[in-house]
Parts: sequence; C-alpha cells; structure tokens
Amino acid sequence: MLYSEKVMDHFMHPRNVGVIENADGIGEVGNAKCGDIMKIYLKIEDGIIVDVKFQTFGCGSAIASSSMSTEMIMCKPVSEALELTNKAVAEALGGLPAHKMHCSVLAEEAIKLAIKDYYDRHGIAYDEGMFDGYGHDHDHGEDEE
Ligand code: FES
Repeated sequence: MLYSEKVMDHFMHPRNVGVIENADGIGEVGNAKCGDIMKIYLKIEDGIIVDVKFQTFGCGSAIASSSMSTEMIMCKPVSEALELTNKAVAEALGGLPAHKMHCSVLAEEAIKLAIKDYYDRHGIAYDEGMFDGYGHDHDHGEDEE
C-alpha cells in the first residue's frame, strides 16, 4: 500500500484542525506546483506553544503532515518547534512516498513562518538567516504581510 496506516489515520481524522482567534503567530505557505496551501496558528505563552491549529487546502499527505506536525509541537518550547524538520514529520507518519515528501515540507515551513510571525509581533530579535528561503514559493508572487 502506498500510504502508511498513520498517514491514512491523520488524513481521515486530522488533529487540531481550525483557527486560533488572537493567535500569537500565523504562518502560511503554498506550493507553487500543486497549488496546495497550509496555514498554521500558534498560541504561545512564556516561550511554550500552548495551542496550535491548522487549515490545509491540499492533498492527503499535506493534511496528514499538518496534523502530525501540530501534535509534535504541541506543548513544546518554541526553540524545539523551530528544529522540527519535514523528515521528522514524514518519519513520524511512518514514511511518505518519495514524490510526496514535498507535502511535508509545507508543514515545516508553515511552522517556521508562524514562529517568525510571533517574533515579529512581539518584537523578539532573531537572526533573519534562520528563515531564509521559507515561504517564497508562492505562485503569484504576492508576499505581503
Ligand atoms: Fe501539494 Fe501534496 S501535492 S502538498
């Protein structure tokens, strides 16, 4: 079978779907090739992610990756969430087919951009280079806010 049971489970029953009103950080990314979009909302208190929700308009692997990644960063320090890689998400899902690995990249990038947004909103200093190359994948080149 192409997809692991975990992928199917998270696709059929995604965790943490939705929106956080008054989120402390929001990250949105899109994949220009497939047109899929992922949005991550973070609630952060004292440097800890106390709530995370996502909205994904995309393929099953993208939905499963968002769902799994929200579980992986829930109740974790921001610093740890920053280190989450798409590979770790795919591994936690029991693997993704090679041509679907890019779907897990959306999850990594959306989380990173949500943290960047949190830093920006709260005036927390960071090294710009940390976020180099994230979120510049948009089809239509609109990159405001
Ligand atoms: Fe677009 Fe999976 S095919 S994210």
